[in-house]
Amino acid sequence: VRSRLVRFGTRNSGTTPALEPLMQAIRTNYPKADFSAIEQAYVVAERAHRGQLRKSGDPYITHPLAVTTILAELGMDTTTLVAALLHDTVEDCGVTVATLEAHFGTGVAAGVLALSKDPALPRDQAMPDSLRRIQLQPREVWLVKLADRVTNLQPPPSHWKAAKIAAYRDEATTIVEALGAASSYLEGRLRTKIAAYPPAPAPAAPAASST
Ligand code: NI
Repeated sequence: VRSRLVRFGTRNSGTTPALEPLMQAIRTNYPKADFSAIEQAYVVAERAHRGQLRKSGDPYITHPLAVTTILAELGMDTTTLVAALLHDTVEDCGVTVATLEAHFGTGVAAGVLALSKDPALPRDQAMPDSLRRIQLQPREVWLVKLADRVTNLQPPPSHWKAAKIAAYRDEATTIVEALGAASSYLEGRLRTKIAAYPPAPAPAAPAASST
């Protein structure tokens, strides 16, 4: 499998337009990053999430890219950036921790495992359990989870009932209280978003002129 992955890796960043804003943020804030590893992680994540969509209708890969870009702007290291790109691949795509460990090392694999909810647990226990496991990881892993929820606190889908919206906001509060100590900057960003959640819906698109 390694050779198959290596084939997708390329030293020529810029061949993947979707990746370019992230690469630019890394060049600015952490120029000694292993750009080859980051591109390889992007390729694995993009393939794993291919066909999945965000609630917004965007391809799913836009989410890990957004999370990783927040962390790149904070100057995070290669292990953290790679883990951020891959953070939903175990929970959502069935990529195994062993695969991540073989290709990206134990730090990435352990971080992604902690960030993944245990599917054997009841729904209400899975998040607290994940947060406890994240707290056993280096602070950089805490930052991935904080950036994940900053990215995820978007206007809720119209079919969400008030109770579900409130539960999602409360879950975000649980996250910021468990992990906010790792970054006052991300804690502040997340608390600001929680205070404004749910945000006002985006203005409706102008009605088409033809009726
Ligand atoms: Ni996520």
